Amino acid sequence: MAAQLIKGTEVAKAIREELKKEVERLKEKYGVVPGLVTILVGENPASQSYVRAKQQTAHELGFYSVQEDRPADISEADLLKLIDQYNKDPKIHGILVQLPLPKHINETQVLYAIDPSKDVDAFHPFNVGKLMIGEPDYLPCTPAGIQELLIRTGVETSGAEVVVIGRSNIVGKPIAVMLMQKGKGANATVTVCHTRTKDVVSHTKRADILIVAAGVAEYVKGDWIKPGAVVIDVGVNEVGRTADGKRILKGDVAFDEAKEVASAITPVPGGVGPMTITMLMKNTVRACKVHNNIKD
Ligand code: GUN
Repeated sequence: MAAQLIKGTEVAKAIREELKKEVERLKEKYGVVPGLVTILVGENPASQSYVRAKQQTAHELGFYSVQEDRPADISEADLLKLIDQYNKDPKIHGILVQLPLPKHINETQVLYAIDPSKDVDAFHPFNVGKLMIGEPDYLPCTPAGIQELLIRTGVETSGAEVVVIGRSNIVGKPIAVMLMQKGKGANATVTVCHTRTKDVVSHTKRADILIVAAGVAEYVKGDWIKPGAVVIDVGVNEVGRTADGKRILKGDVAFDEAKEVASAITPVPGGVGPMTITMLMKNTVRACKVHNNIKD
């Protein structure tokens, strides 16, 4: 294998150790504990698994954490009421509503209802707008995790040709904005490709850094990649189950081919995924400090 493996699991673990110490310090010095509520509507197995992982990490870090499960047929009004309850709860600093939501619920309305100062996903239009002008209070978790991986792996982003595949509000759009800003781990020239892009391969072949959030298993082939490029695979696609019922996951990049061409690549699982959750925890610690006016 030619490429260096970018081990998100290890980087995430190191950041979690730092966060755990910070949580202990906040407890001892100020008597405060970061509080996170995760709200899960319905029984989507992938969402259930993500929320479980978020709760488990919050617990490991010593957070006060609450899990709210609601049936898929909850009314929008009742969901908004639940969010409002946590907007007012001083023990809770971060509110996360797991997406996607059932079709009858207006996702934008729900995201608007979260107090922006408790919006640890950074999905509220206020936080999206602040990111756009380069003044973010909270960074969206997956893009923040990607940027942190690039920084900690020593990948030069300044002046780099970055190609992003995917234009979602959760990954594609915000990572493009973050990498084109001025600042550390940024200053890149960014191209965003999507389902209507003509000749995607002509773009991917130019990329020094290729970020793939297409949502299609093994979409990017080895010969789409410029030799020596850094490949960040954001995809999590369930392609089957093992005999004992465990999910078999594949990324959006054909890993075995890509690793022979790239200089560095994130695996799936164990690449971007653990970083996303870690950044959520980082945002929640920050929210706790903001809500308690703690500046050190
Ligand atoms: N669904 C997929 N990714 C995410 C995420 O980062 N946060 C939330 N709330 N829902 C998601």
